[in-house]
Order: sequence, then C-alpha cells, then structure tokens
Amino acid sequence: MGNGFQVGVIGCGNIAAAHLNAYKLLKEKELLGDVTIAALCDVSRDNALRFASPAGGVSQFQGVGPQNDPMHAPHVYATDFQSQAPRVFSDYKEMLGAVALDAVEIYATLHTHHVIALDALRAGKHVFAEKPLAISIKAARAMVEEAERRGLILGVAESFRFQKAQRVKKWIIDQGLIGAPRLSISVAAGGYWSPDHIVAHTAWRHKKLLGAGGWAVDCLVHGAHARRYLFGEVEEVSGTVQTIEPLRRRRDESGRIVEEVACDCDDTICASLFFRGGMVSHIAQSWAGSPHAPLGADMVYGTEGCIAKDLAIRNDGRQIPMQRAFDEKAGAALIQRFFPKGVEDVFALETLDFLRAAQGHGPMESSGREGLMDLAVCFALLESSTVGKRVKIEDIVSGRLSQYEDPINRHHNI
Ligand SMILES: NC(=O)c1ccc[n+]([C@@H]2O[C@H](COP(=O)([O-])OP(=O)(O)OC[C@H]3O[C@@H](n4cnc5c(N)ncnc54)[C@H](O)[C@@H]3O)[C@@H](O)[C@H]2O)c1
Repeated sequence: MGNGFQVGVIGCGNIAAAHLNAYKLLKEKELLGDVTIAALCDVSRDNALRFASPAGGVSQFQGVGPQNDPMHAPHVYATDFQSQAPRVFSDYKEMLGAVALDAVEIYATLHTHHVIALDALRAGKHVFAEKPLAISIKAARAMVEEAERRGLILGVAESFRFQKAQRVKKWIIDQGLIGAPRLSISVAAGGYWSPDHIVAHTAWRHKKLLGAGGWAVDCLVHGAHARRYLFGEVEEVSGTVQTIEPLRRRRDESGRIVEEVACDCDDTICASLFFRGGMVSHIAQSWAGSPHAPLGADMVYGTEGCIAKDLAIRNDGRQIPMQRAFDEKAGAALIQRFFPKGVEDVFALETLDFLRAAQGHGPMESSGREGLMDLAVCFALLESSTVGKRVKIEDIVSGRLSQYEDPINRHHNI
C-alpha cells in the first residue's frame, strides 16, 4: 500500500456496497486523489472478505429492498477501483493497531457507532459515521466533543443533503421564489417494508436498545437534516409515536415466515417541528400502512408561493419547473460545487465532503455536529411522545430531558 490517505471501513452489511460503489465512481471521475481503502472490518469476517477482492471466494452481496434503494447497490470489490486488496479484519481494534490508517468509516450497526468512533478518535483517526450519528444524544455528544477536543474531523454520512432535489429546493427558496417559508406538510404511510416486514432484514431496527427508535430515528433523521438544511434550526418539537405493527416478519420466496421480531419501538410518527423565525413543519409518516396504497405528499408553503413535487407555484398561479430553473440559472460555479464533474450520486458526494475535510481542505457540510442536531430532532419527538408535551431542542442537546433515552444509556453504559 502506498503512502496516500488510508481509510478503514468498519461494518460491511447492507449499506457498504453503496459506499464502495461511491469510491469506484470517485476514482473513475478522478476525484478520489491518493485515497485507498486499506482495510475492511466486520465482526462477520465473511461480510468484509466479500468486498475485498474476488480471491476471497465469498458469495457476493445480494442487496435488500427495492431496486432503487442504496441497500440494493450492485456488488463491488475494492480491487475494482484500486490495485491492492484491503486487509480484512473481524476486530476493529486489531485493525486500528495493525494498519496505519488516516480515517475510518463506520457502517456498522447503530449501537456500535459511538464505541468505535471514540476508540478511533482516541487513536487519532478522522471518523465518518453512517446516519444516525449515534444510539443516543449522550453518545453523539461524546463523539462530537472528542473530535473537537482532538481537532479531528467527525462527519455523518447524511445522504439526503446531497440529493439534487434538496439542492434544487434550497436554491429555489434562497432565490425567494416562494417568499419566506412558513409551513411544510409531509405525509407518507406505506412502501416496500409495509405493513409488517422486518425493515432491511435487520431486526435491530425494531429494537429500542439497538436502533434507538424505529421510523422516528432511522428515517426521521434524514427528514430532520433535510428540513434543517432548507429552513434553519429547529427550536421545539411536539408529537407522538406509535407501534402499529407489534410483530414484524421476514418471509422466504414461498411466503413462509423465516424470522419474526417483537417490536419495542415505533413504526409511525406524527411530529410538528417549530423553527427559529416561526416556520412550522408537520410530518406524519409510517413504515406500517400499506404497500399497495402509498400515500405521499410533501409541500412547502411560503409567503409568495409554494413547492409541490417538482414545481414552484407562485401565488399568482405561475408555475416554475424547479429543476429546469436551477439548471438554467444557478450558474456553472454553484453546479460544479454541488455536483463536481457531474457526479450526482449522493454516496460519492458525501464521501467527497468527508475526504476533503479530512485532508485539510475546509470544514464538512455534513459534520458530526450537524448529525447531533439532526438526531436531537428525533429524540425531541421521542421525548415529547414520552412526556406528553412540546419540548425544546436545547433541553435535548444538553441532556436536561432524557427520559426516553435513559434506558439506552444505562444499557450501553454511556
Ligand atoms: N444513508 C442511507 O440511505 C442508509 C441506508 C441503509 C443503512 N444506513 C445506515 O448504515 C448503518 C448500517 O445499516 P445496515 O442496514 O447496513 O446494517 P446491517 O446490519 O446490514 O450491517 C451492519 C454490519 O455491521 C457489522 N457489525 C456490527 N458490529 C460490528 C463491530 N463491532 N465491528 C465491525 N462490524 C460490526 C455487522 O456484522 C453487519 O455486517 C446504520 O447506521 C444505518 O442507519 C444508511
């Protein structure tokens, strides 16, 4: 291995292929520079081995979920985009000791993020962790503070920020085309995992002590980030969460149940986010519902117009196709900054955001602190549902209100 920037990947489950394909794309576009994946690690050694090189002899990753889901990214070997196969480990501490890494990327199960990140930061590595940043606010805060104390980069892999649709929406709002945003309403119930499938074939997503929450964490964290990107900081949250389907199941091709999990966290949320400056965002979403009747609406209303699907509609009725307006008027410099060399793959863009910062080229857009604030919105909803009243984000971030997350912290000794 050369002396370039060396990365170790920890956790080679459902989402690892999307990240490795991102490396492949960055390499093809000559955006990767002298970065190599020097090591892959998973407690299941075969999970890591399958991505190293064809020589590993382990069957390829098959993907889960709908075809267009990042968890369905095609299989890829590290040797598809670099000359040398990464070393393979089943113990990340051994990997940290054995390979001269500059950074680690954590794609492991959620409850391990803070443990691995803190060990890596203490070993002097920059850290990029999949969303949600951590299993609790206390754990996320410890990660952010450790990185800041050590002057290391901590980033969260928050793919939604890098979606073209979000960039376009943000540009439309910044241009004043709908005036000042005042209200957004988002409703969705159903989809691929509804009504009762084990989401992503990962039972941990339905267990509070392993997944923190269900929809309220795994999915809302993306929504929280996107809304904070568009509308600014959230000050207060109120809402409720429910578990509509108490049992989730995985079935084989013949429909026979091969796994069943009793859920002890939510699958359905109803939340109101109150932003600094008065903007309000209402969200009602569920991964129960029905796969056959997915109901979806996502609207933003401003003082001078609204955003509905791919249109900005002025109050006088004039319709502006948003993407065309962006492509024609945003300007080459902004388009190049958002989508360098035309790359629109969100995993490639978020990886680039991290790698650039870790190599000393400016701050990250999707920093660990951003990840903490996204997670605070999720926990604010969960705490609001627990105590039955509207809660302040500052009480969540500071740890003053932690009734919902206390058992998680006790269980993991956080
Ligand atoms: N951005 C997105 O669109 C997106 C999509 C899917 C998953 N994710 C996130 O990625 C993370 C992983 O999700 P997933 O669906 O891939 O989970 P998964 O369960 O499929 O994979 C997790 C992997 O981590 C491994 N692992 C667990 N503990 C470990 C440890 N201590 N050391 C090394 N390896 C360990 C497991 O063996 C497994 O292979 C989660 O935080 C999830 O929210 C993000």
